[in-house]
Amino acid sequence: MARSAQRISGVGTSIFTEITVLAVQHRAVNLGQGFPDFPAPDFVKEAAARHIRDDANQYAASAGVPRLRTALADDWRREHPNARALDPDREITVACGATELLHDAVLATVDPGDEVIVFEPAYDAYGPDVAMAGGVVRSVPLLPPDWGFDPDRLAAAFGPRTRALILNTPHNPTGKVFRRAELELIAALCARNDALLISDEVYSEITFGAEHVPVATLPDAFDRTITIRSMGKTFSVTGWKVGWAIAPAPLSAALRAVHQFVTFTSSAPFQEALADVLPVAAHNGYYDQLRADYRRRRDLLAGVLAGARLPTLPIDGAYFLLTDVGARGETSDAAFCRRLVTEIGVAAIPTSGFYADPDVAPQLARFCFAKRDETIIAAVERLARLG
Ligand SMILES: Cc1ncc(COP(=O)(O)O)c(C=O)c1O
Repeated sequence: MARSAQRISGVGTSIFTEITVLAVQHRAVNLGQGFPDFPAPDFVKEAAARHIRDDANQYAASAGVPRLRTALADDWRREHPNARALDPDREITVACGATELLHDAVLATVDPGDEVIVFEPAYDAYGPDVAMAGGVVRSVPLLPPDWGFDPDRLAAAFGPRTRALILNTPHNPTGKVFRRAELELIAALCARNDALLISDEVYSEITFGAEHVPVATLPDAFDRTITIRSMGKTFSVTGWKVGWAIAPAPLSAALRAVHQFVTFTSSAPFQEALADVLPVAAHNGYYDQLRADYRRRRDLLAGVLAGARLPTLPIDGAYFLLTDVGARGETSDAAFCRRLVTEIGVAAIPTSGFYADPDVAPQLARFCFAKRDETIIAAVERLARLG
């Protein structure tokens, strides 16, 4: 008989999938899903085309194309000259995007019954990854409007079975960039409780004035940290699925053991392309331009939403804006977002979907501004119908 495994019993169709399906059905302006709808940069696309033509079309080394790992180590040294240098052979692993690396990292380190601390709202992969490893999530709330956390509540979440804490900075969906002092506190608690840090930093380059501090660069944190990055957000190529993990050799070895039998390797020409792109981007002003473009898109969308009586919360990073649906007298973010997509033709994501228990969630809708100006402006007329 067709029977699925216990470990996926809680993993079902999410509100994200539901809204995406409704967005297609209702030809909505899609400000829901978090991907850029504008073209990827030419120098990035040309690099990939070149490597496909040059026949970098067979399996890459399982840990990642060696010259890419060297380029990633060089980038890390350039960005963090005072931090520990990386050994590209033993401390960097390339895989199919951050999604795979999160899965690999959790499977490589969490045993059945182990506990993993997660800040809520939480990116939707963390809970299922922990559940598939047989672990248990202990959530600690980030509190609006500035998304701080209660240090005592965090300290109380640690226990004898705590194996890891999953951090996400810059944070999806809140746009929070964890401050150095917050990271020091988190790292100290992990050290005291002998817990690992899994730090999801896929939005590392998308910040608005706030300093992104990789927790692995804090004194003494490197040896217990797996840092996860992705090419998708930084170079507007989410479909390429190239990500990398930075971790001390023993943790990298554990992660590689899983990666070897999950996907074995990620796409060779896109890895080669990233190896070409990183040294160019470091010197051609790419990252400053990326941030300036996103700042402009953020302000454009904030203006559009404010015009529709949907004021947004301040953000420091990533490419989402949140609006409190209570400002319009709504009591449920999910009901509001369903109505918005089916009746108004604009898709947004209810953030209660980022909570294990949606009843404890603040009622907020998430709008993505990784969109062309035309897409954002197309929402204006439709949102006017909200009244
Ligand atoms: C916080 C966070 N982590 C991970 C991912 C997935 O990254 P990738 O596309 O590299 O798998 C996303 C994508 O939206 C994300 O927002």
